[in-house]
Amino acid sequence: MHAVPPDPSGGEPIIEVDSLVRYFGRQKVLDGVSFKVYAGDTFIIMGGSGCGKSTLLRHLIGTEKPTSGSIKIFGQEITSMHPDAMHKLRGRYGMLFQSGALLQSLTVAENVALPLHEHTQLDAGLIDTVVKMKLEQVGLTGHGHKKPSEISGGMKKRAALARALALDPPLVFSDEPTAGLDPVMTAVVDELTQRLTQKIGATVVVVTHDMNSVFRIGTRIIMLGTGAHQGKILAAGTPAEIRAHPHPAVQQFINGDPQGHSGDDSGEVLYRDALLGLNDTGMYSRSAIHSSKP
Ligand SMILES: Nc1ncnc2c1ncn2[C@@H]1O[C@H](COP(=O)(O)OP(=O)(O)O)[C@@H](O)[C@H]1O
Ligand SMILES: [Mg+2]
Repeated sequence: MHAVPPDPSGGEPIIEVDSLVRYFGRQKVLDGVSFKVYAGDTFIIMGGSGCGKSTLLRHLIGTEKPTSGSIKIFGQEITSMHPDAMHKLRGRYGMLFQSGALLQSLTVAENVALPLHEHTQLDAGLIDTVVKMKLEQVGLTGHGHKKPSEISGGMKKRAALARALALDPPLVFSDEPTAGLDPVMTAVVDELTQRLTQKIGATVVVVTHDMNSVFRIGTRIIMLGTGAHQGKILAAGTPAEIRAHPHPAVQQFINGDPQGHSGDDSGEVLYRDALLGLNDTGMYSRSAIHSSKP
């Protein structure tokens, strides 16, 4: 429908989604979604409950395959990618999901160490060093030995951020990363995320329904529709363009938080799926999780 404006720097897109369609049974959840994400973007995917935001994100992470359409990441088509190649690509992803999505059976430090076990050959001592550094960056020094249940909501989000950034990923995906936080904590976590991802030079894709976050951190935005517009891009553009967008559904969405945006607990499952991969070559992953149990 509406194209996101081209990258002013003229660079190659980091992500290129073309005519993505996804059915679940007879339900068309994503309907011809096309967009490009450029280096340095904080790209926002917004829209009402059930419009397909999380489904779209799962396609980018490769845990879902489209019914049709193309997804290129770093120039590689991922829809037909071999699971091993997809796993390797995920080593360049940082993933930050709803509810903090920490694995409850592991300590904070073990959670942060997961991507390092998963995607690097670093020895235990080096992993420890990186984990300490990452915890320090998010203000959690001294909390590494705790279980997620022993820390506050805001601390969980920061721990999840440390884990997402453990590998200094060039590309970060986030699904409602501040769900459940009050506006002040949301701003704190947004600011920290922005600062740390900028430091790494990461490109960020964020699903959020929080309008403050959208306009605080977004550089480009797409809005997916519901109802008659289910899974279609209703609006796309810069924050200023979205604010001024004539579509009534867009104005309604940005001027009043629509109903039904309570957080769900799919975050941990999503993270685990992404970590283990779709396939069955996930032995290493499983052992990483189990071996770090106390
Ligand atoms: N694995 C699935 N199987 C069947 N339907 C699904 C599945 N995942 C999502 N859906 C449906 O797809 C629609 C979009 O879901 P979702 O992407 O979670 O929306 P959002 O994140 O925007 O709230 C919803 O109607 C949801 O019920
Ligand atoms: Mg969702």
